[in-house]
Amino acid sequence: MKDLNSNTQLWENLRAHAKRMSNLDLNQVLADSTRFARSHLTVRGLLVDWTRQLVDESVFTHLNQLAVEIGAHEFLHRMSRGDRVNQTESRAALHVSQRSQDHANAALQQMLDLATQIRNGGICGYSGKRFTDVVNIGIGGSHLGPELVYRALTLQPGPRLHFLTNIHSSERTALLHSLDPDSTLFIVASKSYGTYETLDNARVCREWMNTRTPPDSDLSNHFVHITSNPDRVSTNGTVLPVDSSIGGRFSLWSAMGLAITIAFGSNVYKDLHSGARAMDRHVLETDNVARNLAIKLALLTIWNTNVLKTDSHLILPYDPRLKLLPAYLQQLEMESNGKSITRNGESIDYHTSPMVWGGTETDGQHAYHQLLHQGTRGYSADLIVSQSDCSSNDQTKIADWILANAIAQSTVMFAGHRTSDGPIYKNIRGKRGTTIIILEKLNAFNLGALIALYEHKVACLGHLWNLNSFDQWGVEAGKKLADDVYDYLQHGDRQNVPPTTADLIAKIRKS
Ligand code: F6P
Repeated sequence: MKDLNSNTQLWENLRAHAKRMSNLDLNQVLADSTRFARSHLTVRGLLVDWTRQLVDESVFTHLNQLAVEIGAHEFLHRMSRGDRVNQTESRAALHVSQRSQDHANAALQQMLDLATQIRNGGICGYSGKRFTDVVNIGIGGSHLGPELVYRALTLQPGPRLHFLTNIHSSERTALLHSLDPDSTLFIVASKSYGTYETLDNARVCREWMNTRTPPDSDLSNHFVHITSNPDRVSTNGTVLPVDSSIGGRFSLWSAMGLAITIAFGSNVYKDLHSGARAMDRHVLETDNVARNLAIKLALLTIWNTNVLKTDSHLILPYDPRLKLLPAYLQQLEMESNGKSITRNGESIDYHTSPMVWGGTETDGQHAYHQLLHQGTRGYSADLIVSQSDCSSNDQTKIADWILANAIAQSTVMFAGHRTSDGPIYKNIRGKRGTTIIILEKLNAFNLGALIALYEHKVACLGHLWNLNSFDQWGVEAGKKLADDVYDYLQHGDRQNVPPTTADLIAKIRKS
């Protein structure tokens, strides 16, 4: 794999620094009493500490030069002001302007008004009962954001939320069994309104309503459709529009926020926007790339991926309320930057997005951390900790224990561990770059800021890698291929399946 820009001297310098850093005694690096002060930034409610990354100021001199040469900050401005940064779909990427206060946003206002009426009983079910349960039917970006926020903010919900993503009947049968048709609202969330899983789940839910309510009941209040393609909605219910220039994985900031606004109220949803907006301001107003948190995180990814040649990036939240964060960021990062064609249509010959995975801690410590400590694969990691309300001794003890584990894991991944007289199989090599992110508190504002930070990092990376972060043609191709096999299974249409597929199916059907 080659370097990602033509300044070969810069890349030679970066490689020389990689060699130098890998020969350092990393315990000595951590013993430097000035390192922490030079290796963290606090922005709004977030503290980001890259003390345990294999970098120092000399490395950043060159990485920062790269960001300036490639115009990373200018790109974030261009994206945020609505330039057509999504060339293959000839669109802007409007998620930032969606949450800007200056943006007169009728669609968002319509969503907030609807949510308020549902919450206060102004809109009820067909029999006059208030809604107690809301089912968000959607997948990918039409699911992950709302459920991430719902699980993260342990507030008392108004109506309870449920999420129906998968088409597997076990999931939806169990869910429907637990619901009362008189007081259940269904949100059909699909930007394209063409996603099979979502449309089929919506069909089943509609049939379930029809068979469990008196004939001729007016069920229109029970269905809300959120989409950029209102023409495709053929059943009744309220339709909330989403601008087609807001990508699915960025759609939390659009009417797709309906479910969480119904659950927690418009103030909480507005706080989420405020936090994101505060991060937008930091990122857009900080033109010194060394002080810009999104550019800093993007450059750390360039360093880990393109210079140190790591394969994976781990998202490790030390808070079960952030259980969905790895999945959310997996879509954000991998669907955005898992590309191998430049914006000019040429093949890319350097690595782009690492594989992003992870899970809740400390569960992961008792599962895959063995590989992280003693395996052969290179990776980097973000360890995310939220400070807790320490109003009792017990809570303080728990918070201290969690923080101790996050710091200890991050330290050992970075500096390794060697027993002077112990056997070799107990040694840990270390030399993996990790970043600790501390949320002052896990609330809507800070969560909004955290998500926006990752969004800007991803956009900045896409620009540095010279790719389009806002399309997903690979996924579209995958859908088409599944349709061909499905046609064969359903109708025996052999035209688009190879013999190996047909033989496999024949074997399965015989057994
Ligand atoms: O299949 C990928 C994808 O297109 C994502 O980009 C999107 O978030 C998800 O499917 C759901 O799409 P839709 O909201 O159009 O149903």
